[in-house]
Amino acid sequence: MSELPTISKELSKEKRYKAACAQAFALCNGEPNFIAKAGNVMALLKENFDFLWVGIYIVNNNALNLFVFQGPVACTQIAHGKGVCGTSWANGASIIVPNVDEFPGHIACSSASKSEIVVPIIKGNEVIGVLDVDSENLDFFDEDDLTGLEEIANILANEVF
Ligand code: SME
Repeated sequence: MSELPTISKELSKEKRYKAACAQAFALCNGEPNFIAKAGNVMALLKENFDFLWVGIYIVNNNALNLFVFQGPVACTQIAHGKGVCGTSWANGASIIVPNVDEFPGHIACSSASKSEIVVPIIKGNEVIGVLDVDSENLDFFDEDDLTGLEEIANILANEVF
């Protein structure tokens, strides 16, 4: 694999996500190891978007386990229905949290995190994990992030896991 071009921040967020999805496919192409692929997709997102933290929690033994991520150290286990991640897992639905202090039961891994988006990774009909992204800014995530990150979660479900 050769180095991937940086995605221009001059582009609209929608176009940046389209480019990121194309690069995510390219990163997965021909690579058999799911840890290598997942790690590269997280690096791709961290390098090209202004995220504080981006990572994957995977369902393991009836809990969410921290998997590959980029950013500050994070909590390693999240129970079903707990926090934003456990709620997204339980509901099988994405959640945008404009202000983490206002989400009941939010699990604070980094005091720098102010807003968050969590998207379930669904394979077949089963939630196999969640894609979690944190920002240092309040109200950072919008519908473009939702659409773009749900597409990334699809790529994770189909090309990585
Ligand atoms: N805030 C998350 C925990 C994971 S960290 O943000 C990396 C939650 O409430 O589930």
